Amino acid sequence: MGSPKIAAVRGMNDLLPAQAPLWEAFEAQAVRTLQSYGYAQIRTPILEATALFRRGLGEVTDIVEKEMYSFVDSLNGEALTMRPENTAGVVRAAIEHSLLYEGPSRLWYMGPMFRHERPQRGRYRQFHQVGAEALGLAGPDVDAEQIVMLGRLWRVLGLAGVRLELNTLGQPPERARHRAELIRYLEGQHDRLDEDARRRLHSNPLRILDTKSASMQELVAGAPRLLDYLGEASLTHFEQLQQLLRSAQVDFAVNPRLVRGLDYYNLTVFEWVSDRLGAQGTLCGGGRYDGLIELLGGKPAPACGFSVGIERVIELMRDNAGASARPDCEVYVLHQGGATFEPAMRAAERLRDCGLDVILHAGEASLKAQMKRADASGARYAVIVGEQEAAESVAAVKALRTSDQADEFAQQQTVALDLLAPTLAKLLRPD
Ligand code: HAM
Repeated sequence: MGSPKIAAVRGMNDLLPAQAPLWEAFEAQAVRTLQSYGYAQIRTPILEATALFRRGLGEVTDIVEKEMYSFVDSLNGEALTMRPENTAGVVRAAIEHSLLYEGPSRLWYMGPMFRHERPQRGRYRQFHQVGAEALGLAGPDVDAEQIVMLGRLWRVLGLAGVRLELNTLGQPPERARHRAELIRYLEGQHDRLDEDARRRLHSNPLRILDTKSASMQELVAGAPRLLDYLGEASLTHFEQLQQLLRSAQVDFAVNPRLVRGLDYYNLTVFEWVSDRLGAQGTLCGGGRYDGLIELLGGKPAPACGFSVGIERVIELMRDNAGASARPDCEVYVLHQGGATFEPAMRAAERLRDCGLDVILHAGEASLKAQMKRADASGARYAVIVGEQEAAESVAAVKALRTSDQADEFAQQQTVALDLLAPTLAKLLRPD
């Protein structure tokens, strides 16, 4: 009897080879786009002190209250958490290494994040983000630039129908005044509040405005609006951002209900949303967090950033990409073992020296069986080093793809081993 199987942890996915090309294409385009706006990479650890997230994201956020993978290190008693997001980690690193000492910093990161949420389509317990943080810049120019950069990313990825929602949260004192008025208003309507709203009345009254309950819509519509509590500076920041987006021809909708799920935001918040992803339609969220650097012990400095949920973008890219599987290699080298193996291995190395992707057949099999493998690999050419070829220091070359019929190797031809690599490199890399 075999041993029982061990499965992956729920909500944590394997990335299988068939999906890898799409991820690699996304990653290359994302990095390219970020670099073209002057962002430099930063890599921070997956484990951080739990206190970083409790202080940075806010004690009463969903993430901190119930979604963090936190544990006590049994070796030294430290309270650690697997990062649920990376803005706090990047800010921690920027403070620790004095990155802002010489001026602003534009940083990007990519990697896994961990949240103990209920898994469903588009929502996983290990998921991946690529994000950018502009530290030390007050905006609204950089807020607009980040949004324009994201618009460019969707364009180069060929994603259609991604909408931008925009809001402003003002500054903490403005929010506090609005919150007090909102609570007063809701208390006055106590009889009309549902159970959920009564529970949230004092902990998170803004979320009540998000209610789906039909009976409360009228009440919500009459509630005090944050926009009416914003001062001149906050309003100007928001208006200038909108003006910059209009002049860059980025479409957006102002959504006064957009509040985001983390406490560190002020002024600008935004989300990019798709209707083709079901319930988890937000591809990317971000905004300004001018208080976070100081909150985490740094010298006060403004900042703005966003994170893209890679799984969700890949799902949209998959809709567009046909089923074009990427070949495993360009050249498949066959041999007959024994004295043929070493010349075959040398030939494969020389082909790789010329920049080609090569699979050298491993193990023993008939040439017929190897040819089947060569064909299945998607290679353009098979190179055969049989006993006779090895004895004459040549290889037989055969084009494998039907579209190559005009190819000089449509019929099998022999080529001197010395000339093999340059000959195939010329065909596979014409420029
Ligand atoms: P967030 O809205 O929590 O923001 O996450 C950003 C994006 O990550 C979401 O829009 C979504 O696409 C993806 N995402 C979040 N949770 C999951 C999940 N469980 N499964 C799959 N995808 C998920 C942040 O993380 C902030 N750090 C963004 C930011 C950066 N703000 C300023 N700078």
